[in-house]
Amino acid sequence: MDTSAAGKTDIFKMAQKVRGQIRYQASLLAAWAELQSLYYRNLIEYYFRNVNLMQPKSFVQSFRMMRTVHRVRPYTAVFVPRLVALYRLSEEVNRLALPGDFVECGVYNGGSAAIMASFCEKGGPKRNIWLFDSFEGLPEPTEKDGDRAPAYEGWCHGDLAKVTRVFQEMRISDDRIRLVTGWFQDTFPTVEIPRIVILHIDADWYESVKLCLEKFYDSVQPGGYIVLDDYGAWEGCRMATDEFIAARALDVKLIQVDYTGFYFQKPEK
Ligand SMILES: C[S@@+](CC[C@H](N)C(=O)[O-])C[C@H]1O[C@@H](n2cnc3c(N)ncnc32)[C@H](O)[C@@H]1O
Repeated sequence: MDTSAAGKTDIFKMAQKVRGQIRYQASLLAAWAELQSLYYRNLIEYYFRNVNLMQPKSFVQSFRMMRTVHRVRPYTAVFVPRLVALYRLSEEVNRLALPGDFVECGVYNGGSAAIMASFCEKGGPKRNIWLFDSFEGLPEPTEKDGDRAPAYEGWCHGDLAKVTRVFQEMRISDDRIRLVTGWFQDTFPTVEIPRIVILHIDADWYESVKLCLEKFYDSVQPGGYIVLDDYGAWEGCRMATDEFIAARALDVKLIQVDYTGFYFQKPEK
């Protein structure tokens, strides 16, 4: 064994290196645990706020909801409360047997769409799900989207293989899926969807949200829902929505889901 001064220095340096590595790995582990606990805290909090323990039926429904949300989580950038809201709205339109398709503008890896799609053949009328995305990430924003927006150009670059995988995992029949790949401005003129029951707009920027509302609002069934994922987070989405509501003089009440998600029900007139 080397007990010289040089040998002791080497051992000391090695111990320092190992300690550094352990600290680094421990901090990664702590960050991961924090993320997980935030996710589960969110789920559990929502569960206790919503489940009515006096009704065993609600317990089963809430369990199904949690399982669905849990399964799509790896495929979505949408946070749990908004996934839960989408689930609840899809459940509601099925319960009321409102006719129409599900439409999602801004798909990314397919997670939030899979929530709605899981209701295409579950009770209620048979529905299709329409998926619109460039699969090239967010386009260039405009000044209406604010100073933070340019840093997000290209963000949320979806992967079609993941979309296929989540739909397969959720056992959604291919017959129900209408995938439209490309920029909204190019693809919207090529489609006509006669009746929509939920229009989920998750496209962040002013121009994108405006295009979605102008193209699809009129096809939304009265009593159906318009869900805006970015109303709270991005001023462009908020501006496009507020302008649209004002221009049409719509008498609607925006309902808040979390810090960014909002939705409203299409009125009869
Ligand atoms: C926030 S991500 C959608 C997240 C998704 N709903 C989920 O479950 O994770 C926004 C998506 O909108 C798409 N997008 C935004 N503007 C678009 C446009 N004008 N044309 C096509 N796709 C657009 C982007 O490609 C991106 O995938």
